[in-house]
Amino acid sequence: MGPAALRAGVLLALAGMLAGCGPGAPGPGASAGARVYAMNCRSCHGAEGQGVRGMQPPLAGTPVPLGDPEVLLGWVMYGQRPAALPRGAYAGVMPQFAYLTDADLAAVLTHVRSSFGNHAAPVLPAEVAAVRRAHPHG
Ligand code: HEC
Repeated sequence: MGPAALRAGVLLALAGMLAGCGPGAPGPGASAGARVYAMNCRSCHGAEGQGVRGMQPPLAGTPVPLGDPEVLLGWVMYGQRPAALPRGAYAGVMPQFAYLTDADLAAVLTHVRSSFGNHAAPVLPAEVAAVRRAHPHG
């Protein structure tokens, strides 16, 4: 990917962050990230990323959502358990999301990292693509 495409990705991610600020259900003007979150993550992790005690962890202020994008992507796409997520702490089971597009994964994780009081750098589609390439099943 060239620098122009990278810049476009950063701009898209920034636009997503700006559009994704409001709480509650995403309206028609909501960012792609907020929409992907509402469709795939909200039922378990909550509209405010608050989680459900003992079932699903919060995504607000927890280490994995805010940490290394590669580790975060490995978990969300393929269920590769990060060291910071102890086994057995939550009764729920999280599905794997490798079937989402690079753009949707980048958008939803950028949304999570910039919502619920979180402040972490955007995840770029190129980072998603790299994790996908590195995985034996693509
Ligand atoms: C069916 C419920 C369910 C759905 C849907 C779901 N998750 Fe999860 N998620 C969980 C559970 C349960 C865990 C903890 C799993 C474990 O410890 O084995 C988890 C853990 C996580 C973590 C690690 C949190 C921490 O404490 O560090 C992240 C990040 C995460 N989910 C992101 C997402 C994203 C992004 C989506 C949507 C694309 C999503 N989840 C959809 C149930 C769900």
